[in-house]
Amino acid sequence: MRTNLVVAIDGYSSCGKSTIAKALAKKLGFIYIDSGAMYRAVTLYFLRNQVDVQNEQAIAAALDQIELNFHSRDYQTHITLNGEEVSEEIRQMPVANFVSKVASLKQVRVEMVRQQQHMGAVKNIVMDGRDIGTAVFPDAPVKLFMTADPMVRAQRRFDELRNNGDMHTSLEEVYENLKQRDYADTTRVESPLIQAEDAVVLDNTELTPDEQLEFVFQLIKSKQPRPEETTIE
Ligand code: CDP
Repeated sequence: MRTNLVVAIDGYSSCGKSTIAKALAKKLGFIYIDSGAMYRAVTLYFLRNQVDVQNEQAIAAALDQIELNFHSRDYQTHITLNGEEVSEEIRQMPVANFVSKVASLKQVRVEMVRQQQHMGAVKNIVMDGRDIGTAVFPDAPVKLFMTADPMVRAQRRFDELRNNGDMHTSLEEVYENLKQRDYADTTRVESPLIQAEDAVVLDNTELTPDEQLEFVFQLIKSKQPRPEETTIE
């Protein structure tokens, strides 16, 4: 029986999952894990090393060479790929354009899910992604499924890229990438993005981060954990 608390947040591309997940983790003193960063870091490795995604042996060999680690500072995602900090590079368009392909590979998913389950085995965590409530932690007591208007999502990601110094990628390019990833993520064979039956939907098109945080916090409190489980004050 699980004695730690897992908050699972799934949803479409760039709909603010990580913003709410970070704020929630900070408020609760939980560990935040950005599962998308793991798929993005694997994708960066595949791009740099020209791993043939049609070749199962090449994929297995590549996965053997990859070591991912999170370093939590200020509840921001800091991820290293074989010791190298890649947190900024994995947000750029070359990775965004290829990540859904890499994330559709069964071998990649099996390995990422194994690592994610290990991280959530004993600690209180907030994890966001596409399959957290359905495949990684189907027993999570708190599940959120997030969505927002696609144009609002594109604008938010566009602003984020600009803030990080990308002055070239256009809003249309970002919008197309989101649409393509949503399509690929919801239609793939392996753990497609779908709402878990027991997930609560949060459309944040018109909500401020504070309003979203309050919504999730009330949801967690309403779950009334049993005495032997972790309690939130
Ligand atoms: O931040 P954003 O919503 O743009 O995406 P992300 O969470 O960084 O995830 C990037 C990509 O990784 C997604 O489009 C999915 O293809 C894949 N992903 C996944 O398949 N499963 C997860 N649990 C998390 C991400």
